[in-house]
Amino acid sequence: MNLLNNLSVSRNSAKALKAVASLVVAGLVAGTPQFAYTAGDSGVELEHFSPVRTDRALQRGARTYVNYCQGCHTADYHRYAQLAEDLGLSEKDVLENLVFTTDANGEQTKIGELIGSNMSADYAKTAFGVVPPNLALVSRSRGSDWLYTYMKSFYLDQSRPLGANNTVYANVGMPHVLADLQGWQQPVYHDDGAGHKVLDGFQQVTEGKLSAEEYDATISDLVSFLDYLGDPSKEARHSLGIKVMLFLFLFLVLAVLLKKEYWKDIPHNN
Ligand code: HEC
Repeated sequence: MNLLNNLSVSRNSAKALKAVASLVVAGLVAGTPQFAYTAGDSGVELEHFSPVRTDRALQRGARTYVNYCQGCHTADYHRYAQLAEDLGLSEKDVLENLVFTTDANGEQTKIGELIGSNMSADYAKTAFGVVPPNLALVSRSRGSDWLYTYMKSFYLDQSRPLGANNTVYANVGMPHVLADLQGWQQPVYHDDGAGHKVLDGFQQVTEGKLSAEEYDATISDLVSFLDYLGDPSKEARHSLGIKVMLFLFLFLVLAVLLKKEYWKDIPHNN
C-alpha cells in the first residue's frame, strides 16, 4: 500500500514536471517572434540575417533610414538625442546629418524630440490606402530575417498601383523606395510538380546605382539600424549579464572558501 502511494505520488509529480516543462518550452517559443516567421508567412524561404551592432554600421543604417524611410514612416518611441548617444555621434553631427524633419512651426526638429515623420496619417491614408506603420518596433514583430528578405524582395509588377510587389509581402502597399539603388528585378519561379510555384530567385531587369553586393551591404546596415531601434539597450544588457555572471562566480568561490573555513574545526563522522 505504502509502495503504491509512493508510486502514485511520484507519477503525479512527474506529470506536474512535464506540464511545467511544456509551459516553459511554449513560453520560449512564443517569446521569440523570429520563430513564427522562419519559413516566411508567404511560404518563401527567408534569408538568415544577424544584425551588426557597430557604431559605423548603425550610422550608415540611420543615414539610409532618414533619407529613404522617414518620409513616410515614424519611429517616434525614440529621440534624436538618444540616437546621438548610442551611435557615438555628437548632437551637432545628428542635427546636421540626420534631422530632416520639422516641427509644427516649420523649424528643424530639436535634438530632444521624437524621431517622427513629416507625413500626416491622413495624407498617408489617401496616398497609400494604409498608414505606413511605426518602424520603431518592427524588428520585434517581424524579426531581422523577415526584414532583410523583405527589403530585397521588391519586384516590378505593372498590375499594382505603385508598380511594385513583394514576394514575402504579397500586394504590399509600399512602393519600392530603394529602386534607384537596387534597380528593378523580377522573380523567377519553377513548378514543383504538384502545381505550386516555387521561387528560385530574381532576375535583374534594370540596373540600379549599386551593385548587388553594395545593395546587400546597405540593407544589412538598414536592418541593423531597425534592430537597434527595436532593442536599443541590447548591448548594455548583454554586458551587464556577463558582469552579473562573473560576480556570481566570484561569490561562489568566496562562499565555498567561507564554508571550508567554518567547518574546519568540526569533526566529520562519515
Ligand atoms: C512612400 C512611402 C513609404 C516609404 C518612403 C517607405 N515606406 Fe515602408 N511602408 C509604406 C506603406 C504604405 C506600408 C504599408 C504596406 C501595407 O501594409 O500594405 C509600409 C510597410 C513597411 C513595412 C512592413 C511593416 C509590417 O510589419 O507590416 C516595413 C518593414 C517597411 N515599410 C519598411 C520601410 C523601410 C525600411 C523604408 C526605407 C527604406 C520604408 N519602409 C520606406 C510606405 C513607405
